[in-house]
Amino acid sequence: MSATSRYQYLFSPLRIGPLTVRNRVVFSAHLTNYAADGLPTEQHAAYYAARAAGGAGLIITEEHSTHPTDWPYEKLIHGFNPAVIPGYRRITDAVHAHGTPILAQINHNGGQASSMFSRQPVWAPSPVPDPLFREVPKALEPHEIREVVAGYGQVAEHCAAGGFDGIELQCSHSSIVRGFLSPATNRRTDEYGGSLANRARLLLEIVDAVRAAIGPELALGVRICGDELIEGGTTIEDAVAIATMVEASGKVDYINTSIGVATATLYMIEASMQVPPGYAMFIPSAIRAAVNLPVVGVGRFKDPLQADRALAAGQADLIGIVRGQIADADFVAKARAGHATEIRTCLSCNQECVGRMGLNRWLGCIENPRTGREAVPLPAPRRRGQRVFVVGGGPGGLQAAVSAAQRGHHVTLFERSDRLGGQVQLAASVPSRAEFLDIVRNLIAHAQRVGVDVKLSTDVDADLLLAEKPDAVILATGAAPNPPWWAGAAGSGPDHRVVDVRDVLEGRAAPSGKVVVIDELGFHQATSVAELLADRGCQVEVITNGMVVGQDLGVTLDMEQWNVKAAARGVTQATDLVPMGAAPAENGAGVVLNLQHHPTGTDQTREVDWVVCAVHQRAEDGLYRALRAAGALPFTLQRVGDCLSPRRAHAAVVEGQRAAVAL
Ligand SMILES: Cc1cc2nc3c(=O)[nH]c(=O)nc-3n(C[C@H](O)[C@H](O)[C@H](O)COP(=O)(O)O)c2cc1C
Ligand code: SF4
Repeated sequence: MSATSRYQYLFSPLRIGPLTVRNRVVFSAHLTNYAADGLPTEQHAAYYAARAAGGAGLIITEEHSTHPTDWPYEKLIHGFNPAVIPGYRRITDAVHAHGTPILAQINHNGGQASSMFSRQPVWAPSPVPDPLFREVPKALEPHEIREVVAGYGQVAEHCAAGGFDGIELQCSHSSIVRGFLSPATNRRTDEYGGSLANRARLLLEIVDAVRAAIGPELALGVRICGDELIEGGTTIEDAVAIATMVEASGKVDYINTSIGVATATLYMIEASMQVPPGYAMFIPSAIRAAVNLPVVGVGRFKDPLQADRALAAGQADLIGIVRGQIADADFVAKARAGHATEIRTCLSCNQECVGRMGLNRWLGCIENPRTGREAVPLPAPRRRGQRVFVVGGGPGGLQAAVSAAQRGHHVTLFERSDRLGGQVQLAASVPSRAEFLDIVRNLIAHAQRVGVDVKLSTDVDADLLLAEKPDAVILATGAAPNPPWWAGAAGSGPDHRVVDVRDVLEGRAAPSGKVVVIDELGFHQATSVAELLADRGCQVEVITNGMVVGQDLGVTLDMEQWNVKAAARGVTQATDLVPMGAAPAENGAGVVLNLQHHPTGTDQTREVDWVVCAVHQRAEDGLYRALRAAGALPFTLQRVGDCLSPRRAHAAVVEGQRAAVAL
């Protein structure tokens, strides 16, 4: 069966107003933070071009601001500045070279912004402060509404001049239009407030202005929120009614959809692996039943078959696949070629895409070191065909092996245990985190395709390497648990009750009864093991020295689910507490944990059965030190990932690739 017949729906062309797309996969809008000084860059052009080359049916860029009052984050494209046009042209030329249409998303974020960058009050329908930015907006006066509408028209003209094939209006999760549409933020009593028809007036005026600016030759789409998931916000019934009004204007070519409010319920817009795939398809389904325009559905589409089935079921006409194509630019091409198993499946971990946006960094991907680096060519290998030994089969070692083999070297990968994956195997073994293992599955499959020779259950020492004399050695030997200084006698000995998260996940310890989990890492380690132990019947308290347990779950959008799950399991949380010492309990079967509340300097104790530590590890660098002690080496030697310095998986992947490229 050919790939296109396997995916009957995915690879059928579709007319969208004046455009025809070759397949149903949309690379829907998403921030990249690739802009510099408000202008698009070469980084944008190369990034989008790679997805066009990879077969996307339609590309929609990140938002471009329509007015100087709208500047919620530093690296926003200032569409209102005509200086953007040459950068637009670079992007559209690069994408059109692959026969792919590209639309520009244009937007004003309204009250979902701050005055920090613009030094002007934010504009909104009513003075209702946004829960994230916590600033009282200025309610728009009639002349300012006209200015907003004109701004959309002007930016649409810039986009047309820059070669875009059309415009998408972001009216969904962070927008002044959303602000007007939503009863939660629109308290106006004039003709722009009250009834839905009044609340939709701004949207329809903008549709008129943009259509007038771009003429009939370019496409126009409207992105609508299907449910704001906030008290008093718009619902699916409103969304269907809004879509019907948009269609009735006769000026719009398609409807895109979304869910949630970016500054309140973002965890449902860019849902992590804790939310089921395809979770938002009730929205396009309902809208599609009410309008004839093509409708885009989006949200955790992980593979082409899932997308094809949604199309077959009539849930949507097009499928937005965003993170799937951030992770693998060739997602569509691989599906079309019948090689869907070669797709580097997105993990929905949000660590290096969404997570980096929240930290004002450029968009990347935990498992794709080339995402965001498309404009920077890799240098040629110094010498092809080298014999490369990689020691350690976690993500860093696997990536080093794959990249080295891709670059024409002969690679052998040694792993001490009987399976590849390193600590990812543990991270994925806890509730709701199984998809994290896809990073290993993807790398193992890739290693097989490029001919890496994998030797499991093989201990490698300095003597073996010195005897074998490969051309290059890359060490990825990982990290080991490091008992904290404060554990004292309670952390050692045959019956010790202060253990590491890894002791629990690897089965060396089976805590029961009252358990304290110490969170010094601020990520999934503590919260995952807490959830696991609570499910096993333990009474769990998580204690952190930080201001919040699992602090970085905030940037990956896992915090909400963690808190819901913790509350449901009776897991309690305490903050600002620093462990100062631990001792065996007097009855000999527990631990007394001494803590200091650092803001006040007061002491606390906990008497529990077990203490489980999510604390910093130590580099497993024994092999490196042994080789260095051996004097001059007959091979080049590099270290990557945790054996260099224990960090998160992305560091290992990036360094694995870098080490291979250096050969
Ligand atoms: C890093 C990131 C930034 C995003 N920024 C935007 C945006 O500027 N405008 C928009 O309409 N949607 C934005 N989205 C939402 C996506 O268009 C899409 O709805 C969401 O990622 C779910 O699709 P996926 O599961 O295929 O990633 C963003 C998504 C991500 C991952
Ligand atoms: S960082 Fe994670 S969620 Fe984001 S694209 Fe990569 S794999 Fe997907």
